[in-house]
Amino acid sequence: MSLDAYATTGSSPTTENTDAFETTGSSPTATTQDAFETTGSSPTATTTDAFETTGSSPTTADTDPFTRIIHGGLEPDSATGAILTPIYQSTTFVQDAVGDHKGFTYTRSGNPTVAALERNLGVIEGTPPALCFGTGMAAISTLFIGTLAAGDHVVVSDVVYGGTVRLLRQVLDSFGVGVSFVDSSQPEAVEAAINSRTKLVFVETPANPTLKLTDIEAVARITRQAGVLLVVDNTFLTSLLQDVLGQGADIVLYSTTKYIEGHNATVGGALMSHDEELLERLRLVRTTLGVAQSPWEAWLTLRGLKTLPMRLERHCANAMVVAEWLEQHPLITQVSYPWLASFPQSELARRQQKAGGGMLTFEVEGGTEAALELMKSLRLCALAENLGAVETLVTHSASMTHASLTADERARLGIGDGLVRLSVGLENPADIIADLEQAIIQATASTGKGIEGIEGSEGDGDDSRDLEVFAGVTAVAATSRRGGQR
Ligand SMILES: Cc1ncc(COP(=O)(O)O)c(C=O)c1O
Repeated sequence: MSLDAYATTGSSPTTENTDAFETTGSSPTATTQDAFETTGSSPTATTTDAFETTGSSPTTADTDPFTRIIHGGLEPDSATGAILTPIYQSTTFVQDAVGDHKGFTYTRSGNPTVAALERNLGVIEGTPPALCFGTGMAAISTLFIGTLAAGDHVVVSDVVYGGTVRLLRQVLDSFGVGVSFVDSSQPEAVEAAINSRTKLVFVETPANPTLKLTDIEAVARITRQAGVLLVVDNTFLTSLLQDVLGQGADIVLYSTTKYIEGHNATVGGALMSHDEELLERLRLVRTTLGVAQSPWEAWLTLRGLKTLPMRLERHCANAMVVAEWLEQHPLITQVSYPWLASFPQSELARRQQKAGGGMLTFEVEGGTEAALELMKSLRLCALAENLGAVETLVTHSASMTHASLTADERARLGIGDGLVRLSVGLENPADIIADLEQAIIQATASTGKGIEGIEGSEGDGDDSRDLEVFAGVTAVAATSRRGGQR
């Protein structure tokens, strides 16, 4: 099903691309399909299978993710029949008498559009309605403030989004909250860090940006035994690709800014749990801090969510193609993608994830200088801080998302200055690869690390033989340049 869908997009993606592909002689359809086929255990097939195994029957509205996401917790508007939940852009709600209202009083504490998003997310996750926030950081802040008191302690993965580190180190430390950052890929390190004051273990898997994984089931066994809460930031995969509550976590957390909304249009956050008492506490804290999601952004998120399963299929398939291409490129020194056999935790990835996701990192010959040059040279892929959206985005983690860590810390955690983080979008993967190829060539040429500089190459200055394997995409790159895509 997925391949058919992609094939039809390949036959006429855009006239610009069609021209480009025609000049290469290999059609975009063929490139894309071949790429999917050569992945062996095709990510598309894996993903589709994964979705099927989550439900007893793929056509059952209660269980099938495609159906659940589109309809879960949502009804046509009772006043007008509008099929989409309206945007209730209203601060306040008129009461018939004191205390006699229709469930909503003031948008900071609750709003019908936000409530629809919360029901929808709850159905997807299999929990009571979610709590939605103005940003992912608002969700994380509410979680910590709502569950911790002065003197308490948290254990956090050493590799997490930089804002989470900043919150703990530069804000919550002055309220007397202690934190231990540990290598949570080693469950025994988590166990050793838990003490009598520990209330919460917070992990991100795959972690931003290195994609290091934490074994959720193993850590959940430890937290259950210790009587502390396990929170997983599942922003990189969502529950469609990694059911963290099913694997023992107590709370799942999202920056909905990423895959959930998926269109680079909003910022938002969400928390879900089966624990109603905990949700009630966090609702009170959210209302008090004033960090709920806004109705307009909730509506955009609801709209984005409807295509999440299809988007994830394509993100995963494209990321696999790009990762495999990067891995065999002579000017790329390192690639991390959980679905590659070379990924150090690939066995764990295949055990706890249903697909590889859309995120990967790589390093280019020539180190930091070449990486910076590469990011500057991209034309189709955008250099920007975000991930999980339809556009392919490239981020320099050291100076953008993880700038609040010291250079030494980043180096120790594998967030080198030469690390390029790629959020693979939904474009034709041949176009993504073509853009990467032209940027790699420009970057390595400008830093003197081009093909002739590579050990084992002929070193005779005739790049054409070395580049033979990339001839197709290089030709596409040349044509794209003429098109001036960005
Ligand atoms: C894994 C992860 N969690 C949380 C956040 C924070 O989300 P937001 O930017 O929506 O506040 C981010 C942001 O990049 C992230 O990557």
